[in-house]
Order: sequence, then C-alpha cells, then structure tokens
Amino acid sequence: MYQIDLRGKNALVFGVANEHSIAWSIARLLKEAGANLILAYQNERFGRRVSNLVSSMDNVSLVECDVSKDESIQGTFETIKDSFGKLDIVVHSVAYAGREDLQGNFSETDRENFAMSLDISAYSLISILRYAGPMMEDGGSVIAMTFHASEKVYPGYNVMGTAKAALENIVRQLSSEFGKDDIRVNAISAGPLETLAARGISGFPDMKHVHAERAPLKRNITHDEVGKVGLFLCSDLSSGVTGSVIYVDAGFNIMAI
Ligand SMILES: NC(=O)c1ccc[n+]([C@@H]2O[C@H](COP(=O)([O-])OP(=O)(O)OC[C@H]3O[C@@H](n4cnc5c(N)ncnc54)[C@H](O)[C@@H]3O)[C@@H](O)[C@H]2O)c1
Repeated sequence: MYQIDLRGKNALVFGVANEHSIAWSIARLLKEAGANLILAYQNERFGRRVSNLVSSMDNVSLVECDVSKDESIQGTFETIKDSFGKLDIVVHSVAYAGREDLQGNFSETDRENFAMSLDISAYSLISILRYAGPMMEDGGSVIAMTFHASEKVYPGYNVMGTAKAALENIVRQLSSEFGKDDIRVNAISAGPLETLAARGISGFPDMKHVHAERAPLKRNITHDEVGKVGLFLCSDLSSGVTGSVIYVDAGFNIMAI
C-alpha cells in the first residue's frame, strides 16, 4: 500500500483481459489507494474473466465497451454518468493488430488491417476523451500505454509501431486541448512484459532478452513497476506533468548500443 489517497475518486480502466494485463497492474493499485474502480472490458468473453478476477473485491463496477464502435463508447459513458456522475481518472490500455501484421515485411501490411489497428489502438483515445472530458468536472488524469517502437524500429512490431507513434501524438494534442480544464494526459512507455497481447508479437522473447541485456538496470521491468508509475500519474503527485511519455523500461531507450 503506497501513501496515495484516491478515496472518492472514480477511475475508469480500459484493457483488463486477465491478471497479466498492464491495465490490471494499474487498476489494482488505484483500488488499493481507495478509488472506485470501473473496469471496461471488450466483450462477453473477457467480461467473464474480469468478473472472476474482481469477485472478492467491493466497489468495482464492470461495463462492456468495444472501443472500435462509437455507439459502444457513447453507451458506456452514459451508463457511467448515470451511476457515478463524474470521472477523475481514465486509463487507456488497449491495442489490437492481427497476428499476420505483427510479423514479416511491413510493406505488406494490409490497408484494412492498418486502419483497424490504428482505429482501436490510437483513435479510440480521442473518442474516449470526447466523452470523458466533460465528466471530469474537478479536473483529472488520463493515461495511455505506449511502446518504444513509436520511435525506433522493432522488426515484427510493424503496424503497432505506427499506431504507437500516432497514440503519442494524440496524447500531446489532447493534453494541449484539455489542459485548461485541469485534465492531464500522459503516456507510459513500458518495456516488454508477458501479456496476452505480447504473445502475438513475433520475436517477443528475443526482444525481452535484448532489453534485459542492454538496459542500464540490466534486467526487465515488472508489471508492478508500471502499476506504480500509473498510480503516480493518476495522483496529485504528478500535478505538473502533462503531455509526457514516461519510460518505464529499466532505461533501455537511452542506449545507442
Ligand atoms: N506487454 C507489453 O510488453 C507492452 C509494452 C508496452 C506497451 N504495451 C501496451 O499496453 C497496452 C495493454 O496491453 P497488454 O500488454 O496489457 O495486453 P492485454 O492483452 O492484457 O491488453 C490488451 C487489451 O486490449 C483490449 N482490446 C483490444 N481490442 C479492443 C476493443 N476493440 N475494445 C476494447 N478493448 C479492446 C483487450 O480486451 C485487452 O484487454 C497496449 O496498449 C499495449 O500495446 C504493452
């Protein structure tokens, strides 16, 4: 338990698929800090898993939301407005690319798949903020999850690198737009972590190995280390931070070789 008090704050977290999800690492700590947790799951299948995960917790609400559909996002926020009135924290920890587009030549990325990946992994943050912004009456904090492939080439990461570059740009543009309402928007750039989404990336074990070998801290990061920075960004401790990409990667991104 860290000394951060989020009692009375309503936190909406997108992207919990199971106990290995980065979203869960953050959600868990938000809950421990006293926040009322609302978990938005993708579909019925994930809903069952998430419901099992939180079965022993109180003050956790679940809502279904497919971020590729505007009507689903709108419906989610209407439901939340009816039950909670206002929002203080939003965590966007969502990404998608077809397995076939996370391997092979980038030049072979299919047009429709490209649009779908960018839509779910990047555009969805714009759509979410459009509804969340007006509900953050007392200001708020929004965080998104990104990866170093937004800047450097990771063979195999392909279209997801493009999506992360777009996402980081979106974080900056939204932080500029919503700053006057005391709504902060930041991204965490995490090092490789074993999750459901990571399983789809070809060469992921090698990437993890290289990170541990070259990073200044000479190891991989843990889920909990991302959770702790998430908690910091969602709390008042980071009140002067917006539009930033904070690396939680054991320092890997600063190395040239
Ligand atoms: N695992 C890593 O190494 C790593 C590193 C850096 C960044 N990230 C990013 O962290 C975020 C979370 O991924 P993760 O690694 O925890 O994997 P994960 O599979 O646990 O989470 C991905 C989530 O995206 C959700 N999602 C996909 N399509 C959706 C849709 N249409 N509507 C609603 N939700 C949808 C899934 O349901 C799932 O909960 C992603 O943005 C990912 O790119 C992951």
